Amino acid sequence: LFIDASERSSHPIPQTLFGIFFEEINHAGAGGLWAELVSNRGFEAGGSNIPSNIDPWSIIGDESSIIVSTDRSSCFERNKVALRMEVLCNSEGTSTCPSGGVGIYNPGFWGMNIEQGKSYKIIFYVRSTEAIDISVSFTSANGLQTLASTNIIASASDVSNWTKMEVLLEAKETDHNSRLQLTTSKKGVIWFDQVSAMPLDTYKGHGFRNELFQMLADIKPQFIRFPGGCFVEGEWLRNAFRWKASVGPWEERPGHFGDVWMYWTDDGLGYFEFLQLSEDLGALPIWVFNNGISHNDQVDTSSVLPFVQEALDGLEFARGDSSSKWGSVRAAMGHPEPFDLRYVAIGNEDCWKKNYRGNYLKFYNAIKRAYPDIKIISNCDGSSRPLDHPADLYDFHVYTSANNLFSMSNQFDKTSRQGPKAFVSEYAVTGKDAGTGSLLAALAEAGFLIGLEKNSDIVQMASYAPLFVNSNDRRWNPDAIVFNSFQAYGTPSYWVQRFFTESSGATFLNATLQKDSSASLVASAITWKNSDGQTYIRIKAVNFGSNSVNLQISVGGLDPNSVKLSGSTKTILTSANLMDENSFNEPQKVAPIQTLLEQADKEMSVLLLPHSFTSFDLLK
Ligand code: AHR
Repeated sequence: LFIDASERSSHPIPQTLFGIFFEEINHAGAGGLWAELVSNRGFEAGGSNIPSNIDPWSIIGDESSIIVSTDRSSCFERNKVALRMEVLCNSEGTSTCPSGGVGIYNPGFWGMNIEQGKSYKIIFYVRSTEAIDISVSFTSANGLQTLASTNIIASASDVSNWTKMEVLLEAKETDHNSRLQLTTSKKGVIWFDQVSAMPLDTYKGHGFRNELFQMLADIKPQFIRFPGGCFVEGEWLRNAFRWKASVGPWEERPGHFGDVWMYWTDDGLGYFEFLQLSEDLGALPIWVFNNGISHNDQVDTSSVLPFVQEALDGLEFARGDSSSKWGSVRAAMGHPEPFDLRYVAIGNEDCWKKNYRGNYLKFYNAIKRAYPDIKIISNCDGSSRPLDHPADLYDFHVYTSANNLFSMSNQFDKTSRQGPKAFVSEYAVTGKDAGTGSLLAALAEAGFLIGLEKNSDIVQMASYAPLFVNSNDRRWNPDAIVFNSFQAYGTPSYWVQRFFTESSGATFLNATLQKDSSASLVASAITWKNSDGQTYIRIKAVNFGSNSVNLQISVGGLDPNSVKLSGSTKTILTSANLMDENSFNEPQKVAPIQTLLEQADKEMSVLLLPHSFTSFDLLK
């Protein structure tokens, strides 16, 4: 491998090159990154009709002691459904309540993770015709062990109108599979609405589950594309993500049923929270909005203006000053400064649909008029032929076999350097090569990414997809990060991302493999400075073949003895079997291993293990 480390042959890698794509799929947000423990907190999962679907809430007590129904008596205008609980038993007298009382419980998203010594904020809204005495508790899954509890007592006049109750519960024990209970042994009728249980320690108190947030931060993403994906489109427009329904006080959000990935979300992780997440990660937000097109229905271009206005309002929400109509809503949510929104995508995977171009142009023109600096991303692939419409970037998605993706390391070599830049916003190996996250898939992706790095004069951004999966709801395989209520691990594909954390904004060095080198070998070199101002050359090589390879590395354009041995490292990602995966039991079975280099020089001979991804960091 000949590397030219002189400035002559280098090109700067865009600062935006590697980022992440967050979609509300696989319970990535609801029951995932968003730390809310209660699922269906407003009892609206069945929609606004009554009886609504209260799942996964369940009833404690039988028909002789409790009657539970839903009605439309909530104090919240956009989500009128409330839960009505008629308690027929009492603490004493002829119809005594069972011990522990009767009521309702919520198991969260496949069990709530309650940890000893940690505090949880419980909020709910209540109304009653009588005085209330309600026990609020976290218990084991069968309700027998109590981890934390408190009683809320109020007179009839205190709760004759809807009243907000707020308590802090500190857990005495740990249980990863617990539930929240609201119970009573007092006869009467009680209404509940908007029940929330949030751990106190979320990232900066912003509601993001800490360890999942950290796994994202460790990739050092330069951008975050959100909130989908198909989630943005919906099977039907009526079920698409609507940003306006996802902002403002959480209690007032109606929630919606995502009909592509088939689950209800309370939309606690809404448009504001996505923008906040981007800011917290130091990543540029890339907002994908619905363009009047879903999987099964479309708005005609002649009537798409309300959708265009909705997008413009969304831009004002993110960027307008706090005296503007939508900027003031953002300010009221605690963020008076505008968010740094510079990129939007008009729809997702809609290029081939009848109304796409017509609708696209309406959005494009209106946005460019109001916000000339905003970069607009088209759904149409411009890598093989020019687009027939204006755009700053075009979207490129690929899900394929390992061999195909590996061979696509040359995909952008011949792409025209004129016109819009490429945004490879979704890529992954899928199907039998990938299982639920194999080494094989990760190696092919590493090869593909090396190709993107090489072509980063035309490829401006790239993100793996999907990012997260709750192991209890695998709608899509594989994914980068797997979690349940209390554990998380990265798949080999996640670890591949970590090899590229320094690439964004680095300098790409011209590196050529000897002509006779194997077709299953790809390699690249970059140079970058760390935060202490130390300069490194990182050489990355994927050996996709089943034999080891002796690689001669020769770095031209360096002064003699300019590579320092101490501080130079080697990092390898490999495993005994190509289809090896990580799991909750073996979270690091396939993970990078870093060692100090025994030899570091302008001229080096290195061994690449079969089926491996290796990076050499040479300290200059
Ligand atoms: O990443 C999963 C899905 O794949 C996305 O929702 C969609 O854009 C693509 O088809």
